[in-house]
Amino acid sequence: MKIAIVGTGYVGLVTAAVFASKDHQLYCIDIDQNKIDNLKKGIIPFFEPGLDDLIKTSLQEGSITFTNDYSIAIPQADIVFICVGTPKQSNGNADLSYLEAAFASIIQHIEHFTIIVIKSTVPINSHIKIMKDLHIDTKKVELASCPEFLREGNALSDAFNPDRIIIGSSSDKVTKTLLKLFEDFQSPKLVTDIVSAQVIKYAANSFLATKISYANMIAHLCESISANGIDVLKGIGYDPRIGDRFLKPGVGYGGSCFPKDLSAFISLFKDYSQDPSLLQSTQQINNLQPYLFIKKVLNKLGNLENKNLTLFGLSFKPDTDDIREAPSIKIIELLLKYKANINAYDPAANINIEKIFGKQIRLFNDPYKAANKSEALLLVTEWPEFIHLDFSRIKSLMKSANIFDGRNALENQKLKLQELGFFYQGIGINQEYKELLLV
Ligand SMILES: NC(=O)c1ccc[n+]([C@@H]2O[C@H](COP(=O)([O-])OP(=O)(O)OC[C@H]3O[C@@H](n4cnc5c(N)ncnc54)[C@H](O)[C@@H]3O)[C@@H](O)[C@H]2O)c1
Repeated sequence: MKIAIVGTGYVGLVTAAVFASKDHQLYCIDIDQNKIDNLKKGIIPFFEPGLDDLIKTSLQEGSITFTNDYSIAIPQADIVFICVGTPKQSNGNADLSYLEAAFASIIQHIEHFTIIVIKSTVPINSHIKIMKDLHIDTKKVELASCPEFLREGNALSDAFNPDRIIIGSSSDKVTKTLLKLFEDFQSPKLVTDIVSAQVIKYAANSFLATKISYANMIAHLCESISANGIDVLKGIGYDPRIGDRFLKPGVGYGGSCFPKDLSAFISLFKDYSQDPSLLQSTQQINNLQPYLFIKKVLNKLGNLENKNLTLFGLSFKPDTDDIREAPSIKIIELLLKYKANINAYDPAANINIEKIFGKQIRLFNDPYKAANKSEALLLVTEWPEFIHLDFSRIKSLMKSANIFDGRNALENQKLKLQELGFFYQGIGINQEYKELLLV
């Protein structure tokens, strides 16, 4: 099939790469000229494992074209996927200006019957207003919603083997075409109406965010009653009805999806006079996590003024350079308020963090250099490489051997770290209590 992708961000590029590798012809449009110029050369604007190779192969094979000209892409396409951003506005609602602009440009260039599939996460019924405002002829255009569930860092594997494919459409013709398009994906496929598809996306992300906040809530209770929060959550997670994924305590969730989708979902509840208090609590608990993490550092080190602290991990999760709403940002802001000297190391996100904090923090391309003369390591993002660091070397470089593990990533080597002389504090276990037990 001939497919146009509007918006070449994470979702758009990954979607394009997957369909191009399945022998479809892809036309990718973005308004960002610089991005398109780079993509034509095979340069990917962000870090996502495996994506650059796949895009380069499709470029060589001629199955993918990048352009900023809608008139080149849209008239060719049988199906147009809209993958533009829907960021959070200051009032918590989704900003639909990119979506509206994309629709307006697509409509201008449609020459034959075309299916427009919204992959962006959008508030329910937003398509109806857009269809009305643009006087869209429903004989020429039919809409569908196929929300995206990929996880950055795992995006390709998620896109090739999605947990589920949701097709929201009230038209048999559209449904048939989309089922054909997704024919060789071995995933459960749910055909539903557009609004239900839109709700599925928000409800899924809100549930996952709530699970994380629940884990954090339990972890902090356990700290205060001297229970082992990590064991408690493990014990809960063995129940297959609950499951252990997303049941890990830490410095909170971030990224371009959970915070904004939760806000938009809460707005939806309010708009329809429904009670969003469970989701509001999820948000409140999450917002507290960076403060609770820094409180642990303060309890141990006292005043942070002029103390050298080292952050390991800045991206909102491992295997990505994405720092949108990353907990590291809030943590850095807090540490700057306490006038700490901040060193930081991230395998991929240094450049993006530098754009926000400039010279206020010192960024390193080597974790050992970042730890030099430091009084505490703060592990913020659980990149796998941190588990394999040479901690005896790190200890020899540090001024004081303190580790605050905001993801419990080093929990399994805690005893070894303590033997090396580190003070180690994760999330969910009251360190003083454990020390008392050892006496
Ligand atoms: N990133 C994720 O992990 C993820 C996962 C699932 C769903 N989503 C949803 O998918 C959507 C896209 O997210 P993303 O992270 O890929 O966004 P992104 O910000 O990485 O990319 C959006 C792209 O759209 C382009 N764009 C904006 N307006 C345009 C227009 N009028 N015409 C053409 N291009 C235009 C931008 O230049 C940008 O390149 C959002 O609604 C998001 O919530 C994202």
